[in-house]
Parts: sequence; C-alpha cells; structure tokens
Amino acid sequence: MVGNAALAAMVEHHTVLYSDLADPVALLRSPAGQSALARYWPYADAARARPLSQREIDPYSALMAASMPLVADEILDSYSLARHSCLLDVGGGEGAFASAAARRWPHLKLKVFDLPAVAQRARRQVAASGLADRVAVYEGSFLADALPLGADVISLVRVVHDHDDDHVLVLLNAVRKALPPHGVLMLAEPMSDTPGAQAMGDAYFGIYLWAMGSGKPRSADRLGELLVQAGFERPRSLRNFMPLQTRVLLVRPATVANRVDPE
Ligand SMILES: C[S@@+](CC[C@H](N)C(=O)[O-])C[C@H]1O[C@@H](n2cnc3c(N)ncnc32)[C@H](O)[C@@H]1O
Repeated sequence: MVGNAALAAMVEHHTVLYSDLADPVALLRSPAGQSALARYWPYADAARARPLSQREIDPYSALMAASMPLVADEILDSYSLARHSCLLDVGGGEGAFASAAARRWPHLKLKVFDLPAVAQRARRQVAASGLADRVAVYEGSFLADALPLGADVISLVRVVHDHDDDHVLVLLNAVRKALPPHGVLMLAEPMSDTPGAQAMGDAYFGIYLWAMGSGKPRSADRLGELLVQAGFERPRSLRNFMPLQTRVLLVRPATVANRVDPE
C-alpha cells in the first residue's frame, strides 16, 4: 500500500465518508444531497441539476485520475480493442482511461464525454500527454444531451453505480442511440454479488453510495436487466484478474425486432 499512490489517494479521501459516518443517525435523517460525500460528488445531487464550477469538480476529478491505475489494465486486459476504430468514454473524467486505451492501442481514435467543467480538465490533461490529435473531448450531460456519434465501442467506467435506476436508463438509452448496430458497450465497475468480493461490492460500496445519497452497487444480473430494458442484448461478463476492483460487462445493442421496449 505504501508504494501504491492510486490506493493512497482513495484511502485519503475517506475522511469525507468518515465525517458522514461520525453521526449515522443524522445521516439517516438527512435528505439526499446533504451529506459531505454528496458535496464531494456534487453531480450526485441530480435533483438539483445545475452547472458545476471548476472548484467543485477538481477534488473528485483528480481522485478519479489518480486511482485509474487500479482499474485501467483490468479493463483493457479483459477485452481486445484491435478490431475497433474509435472508443468513446462516457463520464470519462479528465481522460485517464481514454489515454490508457490510446497508449495500449495506437490505431485507436478516442473521444471523452463529461460535464463541462470536467471536460476542461480533460482538454488540459490530454494536451499535456501529447494525445490531443487522437483524443477529442466533448462536454454535456448524459442525462440531457445526445452523446457524440462515430464510436464503435463505448465505455462506462465507474459511472453507472453513481446513479439511481431512472437516470441509469436515460444514460443507457443515450449510449445505445450513439452506437452503430455492430458497436459494443463495455460497462466496468465494482459489482455486488461478486463471489469472494461481497465485502467490497455489497457492504463497502453499499454504505458509500448510501452516504453519497445516489446510486447503489448492482449485481451483473441487475445491470443486465437494466441493459435489456434500455434496448441492449443480455451482457456477457468478461474475465478479469481482480473483480474486487472492477468487473467488466460487454454488451451489444439489440436489433429493433428483439428490443423489449422498441421505441
Ligand atoms: C466516479 S467518476 C468516474 C470517472 C472515470 N470514468 C473514472 O473511472 O475515473 C464519474 C464521472 O461521471 C461524470 N458525470 C456525472 N454525471 C454526469 C452527467 N450527467 N453527464 C456527464 N458526465 C457525468 C462525472 O463528472 C465523473 O467524471
């Protein structure tokens, strides 16, 4: 742990969770959006959707980029991007996952989509990494705006678990509409009901997201139900080395004839 900067960054930010847990009764009584964690992750308060300032998004964006080494290789090792030409990372933060994919797959074009203030950080990071000619950064909200077209693989890395079911369905529908029929979605995050990792996927993330006041850890089966509802096929669970940190689901859009709820 001492030598692991990604883990250290994750551990350090837990002062925010512990300040909420110091008074669990107050936390139980307070409406969603009032906790210290909800302030740390201000997009979690979707009920009061508003533009977020640079100051509000800086701490969590830096933490996400610092902790990306915990999951990037897990995800990139689980699925080959050799046959894909363009990856869109939705909720891609300051572009750490897209940059790791760019370094792994030199033929690949990349796009990152995130909230405007986060996208500004992404543009700076991508330019500083010398990847500006391969990684395009888009800004908007996946709850309100269409996603950029042109990618044949879309990734959602540590994004879905932050949101309640109604918003997840909006997000997954937006992803499906942005994918061509032969495209795929990679959905990567820690999941509940993961054999051997229940303490992390169910207990730890359950308490964390409850304190944050938005989202929850979901099992691969539950994510599969939401994906089918949003017009995808049933996902396939890929094998990865450390499912404690993240698992990876791969899924294609269903043909219109096979959609549960065709529009
Ligand atoms: C937990 S972070 C994960 C970031 C990155 N994927 C990673 O794993 O490091 C969730 C990301 O989703 C973004 N996000 C949240 N709500 C969003 C929205 N409505 N539209 C676009 N991005 C959003 C946040 O700004 C943040 O960058």
